[in-house]
Amino acid sequence: MSVSTKTRTQSQAWYERAQRSLVEGVNSPSRGAAVYSGGPVVLERGQGSHVWDLDGNQYVDFMMSFGALIQGHAHPKIVEVVSQTVAEGSHFAAATSAEAEAAERFQRMVPSAEAVRFANSGSEATMLALRLARAHTGRTKFLKFEGHYHGWYDPYCLSGHSHPADQLGPRENPARFPDSAGIPEAVFDDVVLAPWNDVEALEAILQHHGRELAAIITEPIMANMGCILPREGYLQRVCDRAHQYGALFILDEVVTGFRYAPGGCQQRFGLKPDLSTFGKALGAGFPVGAVAGPRAILNRMRWGSEGMVLHYGTFNGHRLTMRVIAANLDLLAANDGALYKQIYAVGDAAIAQLRDVFRRHKIAAIVQGFGPMFQIYFTSHDAIHDYRDYCRYADTTKYSRFVHGLLDRGIYMTPSNGLHWIVSTAHRMEDVEALLSAADEVCAEMA
Ligand SMILES: Cc1ncc(COP(=O)(O)O)c(C=O)c1O
Repeated sequence: MSVSTKTRTQSQAWYERAQRSLVEGVNSPSRGAAVYSGGPVVLERGQGSHVWDLDGNQYVDFMMSFGALIQGHAHPKIVEVVSQTVAEGSHFAAATSAEAEAAERFQRMVPSAEAVRFANSGSEATMLALRLARAHTGRTKFLKFEGHYHGWYDPYCLSGHSHPADQLGPRENPARFPDSAGIPEAVFDDVVLAPWNDVEALEAILQHHGRELAAIITEPIMANMGCILPREGYLQRVCDRAHQYGALFILDEVVTGFRYAPGGCQQRFGLKPDLSTFGKALGAGFPVGAVAGPRAILNRMRWGSEGMVLHYGTFNGHRLTMRVIAANLDLLAANDGALYKQIYAVGDAAIAQLRDVFRRHKIAAIVQGFGPMFQIYFTSHDAIHDYRDYCRYADTTKYSRFVHGLLDRGIYMTPSNGLHWIVSTAHRMEDVEALLSAADEVCAEMA
């Protein structure tokens, strides 16, 4: 029997109140009524793999702050480091030993990081990576893939949301959907759009635009249409094609970095990106972004260098965050990465057993992903390979209903099918058991 968390009167009352001072009562649409029918669950406390809402309901958290909380909530080591650092002075916006200590650990874990530059969010990191790529190549255009999200910087806000399948246009010339008003149309003139996981379409598009590109940017695993894996060898081919046309290969590891392996997906898949971007798990719950790459590119930020690339920020290298990063990376690197083995064991068990639950209830659903991250799609297809499959075949309404059922049974997750389930170092097999028991009940209701 799963836990009942159906009474959420305090959450509802607080949501009413918050709407009087905030837009939709929150600070990002993915947290509000756009995805949580009846309003969000207002969270008040977290410990390990669990969170508690305003009504005192307890949940196993599988969203983990969109993946930022790789060590779970309130990890004792992180709490200790934060308390000590705050007491000493949290930030000076000056040179500190903390920033180099964080960077040295980063370098040891990420093979492509000859140097690293810290910013404050994944969006800032991808913004900087594009500026560096443009300066390095002397070109302006770049290629992004349909359904990939690289933060909310203007030029990335193209075809990041799902649209009706019959409006997507041909693969060699995809329809272009700006994700936001307020972005000048001219910004998108510099964006070349391609479908992902499709070498032929990419080659056709590169024949027209390849020589104009400063960069091709890609997520290694699509994490903003759920969890979509690259086809065998695909990412290496994208990297090779980028180089063939004199463009940089930017790997956006904001979601995957420090999660799939100590060196992220670039280590896991044996890739050598020119630039890579990080955030989320790097900061173990504290706001951070980072760009890593060779000196030949990152040194363009040196003051007064020819064609200098500007990157400022009062909070860059924030001392508190840097101390958290050093502690976080020490935990992740300890005992030859033993924590990764634990994450994979728990994640793979959750994936296999969820598949089993759907099979037993004869519900057409698949679970994609492995180890630390996965997503469920209600579909009669055996795989979702790209944005177009997602728009065409994923029953996102059914997914939302399923997750709302889980929320009522003590499992915390976002009802948005575009996001993904996260397994942290705090999750244990009993958390998987709680998920399976809740999923079993919801499936019985849905079947
Ligand atoms: C792949 C990817 N890149 C960049 C970002 C932007 O990161 P942030 O939300 O920290 O700005 C995200 C956020 O979800 C992301 O998923």
